[in-house]
Amino acid sequence: MPDWRQTLHLEPPRGWLNDPNGLCYFGGLYHVFFQYCPTHANGSGPKHWGHYQSPDLLHWTFTGAPLHPDTPQDKSGAYSGCAVPCGDTVRLYYTGNVKHTGPYDYIRTGREANTILVETPDGIHISPKQVLLTSADYPADCSLHVRDPKVWREDGIWKMVLGARSLADAGRVLLYHSDDGLAWRLARVLEPQPAFGYMWECPDCFPLEGRTWLSISPQGLPHGETENQNIYQSGYFELPGGIESGTPGPFTEWDMGFDFYAPQTFEAPDGRRLLIGWMGMPDADYHNPTEALGWQHCLTVPREVTAGTHGLRQRPARELDALADGSPSIIRNGTAALPLPCRLQGVAEGDFSLTLAGGLHLERDTGSGLVSLRFTRDSLGGGRTIRRARVGNAPLRLDILVDRSSLEIYLNDGETVFSTRFYPDEPQVPLVAEGLPLTVQPLRPMEFCGMQKED
Ligand code: FRU
Repeated sequence: MPDWRQTLHLEPPRGWLNDPNGLCYFGGLYHVFFQYCPTHANGSGPKHWGHYQSPDLLHWTFTGAPLHPDTPQDKSGAYSGCAVPCGDTVRLYYTGNVKHTGPYDYIRTGREANTILVETPDGIHISPKQVLLTSADYPADCSLHVRDPKVWREDGIWKMVLGARSLADAGRVLLYHSDDGLAWRLARVLEPQPAFGYMWECPDCFPLEGRTWLSISPQGLPHGETENQNIYQSGYFELPGGIESGTPGPFTEWDMGFDFYAPQTFEAPDGRRLLIGWMGMPDADYHNPTEALGWQHCLTVPREVTAGTHGLRQRPARELDALADGSPSIIRNGTAALPLPCRLQGVAEGDFSLTLAGGLHLERDTGSGLVSLRFTRDSLGGGRTIRRARVGNAPLRLDILVDRSSLEIYLNDGETVFSTRFYPDEPQVPLVAEGLPLTVQPLRPMEFCGMQKED
């Protein structure tokens, strides 16, 4: 049986994982919560929050599911949200999802979305729930799809963005203000004209290098050959003028691969902006064979985000550099058996191709200026086909994290990223490299504790 358990990526011991939630650094630890369905690997049960913590982003402890959907206000799911360290505790803001039984469309009828606050001193013990906003409090022209609070403090004001779908099926962000993080007043509805998709999930607004950025996960964008290739997207706008009144610039996708959605960012203690995404895709027409083994999905590694001339760049958090294990080897136009996990690095002057496990091809064609990620073996990709990105013809720098069942491919210092799951049959994955010298650096697995706890 192949071993598809990840060694560099957080995944649930059993059950289903989706969005990263409540990312923060508090009490000397990184806290990574996530959407978690402990009982059903297909995600069909109500969502809880699972919790991992780590002192260094390398040693992780899974502590179970501290937040359960156990009140009338969140009975159908403790949906996504965020964390704000505040004095001796962390405030967690999330959406309590309620679905009534009946002949409802669950867009305009039959649903409630409550903005709920809990506090935790440690990510494990959770205070009683406090409902701050209900569906009746949102603007009257919103549908019942309003969710995923991201809260931060700026110039003494608490601010919150919520993702929403209008009654006219336009994606939007609701911006709220508060003096105490408890009583909220609407400050702005940010909705581009014409509409940009029908729903925006998981908004995140953050400053970086003196500029304001708004990340969203929009649904309903038109698909193209090199853009919006997945069923749903995740990307960002720059907001010159800020969140209060700025107009969004062009939309850039965070990741061009098959498996990336609903990312969230937070500030590391040294000021770096770190991003973690769900390495999965809701409602995709491809699948993950781990579902049959009792678990499904993982998060991306933490990525450092910086602002470049062409928008934002991402690179694996520098902490991961410490996982290098033994000497690297170099492959020049040849084949190798990759030890997993490992990191591949190189520069391609022109066309190149890498073939992993005989059926996953990463290729650059300088004629078209495209890089493509293509599966030619169905069982390797679980039905994944091809994804493309425009990268031009200049020399291309590659930095690839290969885990037991995923690749994160960072091109040109993270100007373009592809994330995908793949399911090789062998513990050492055959690689054929043509057109570039490639350095193969074996990596040590991260350390995971507490994986026997299931909720
Ligand atoms: C995004 C999302 C969020 C929601 C959560 C539910 O993947 O649909 O909008 O809060 O997942 O699990």
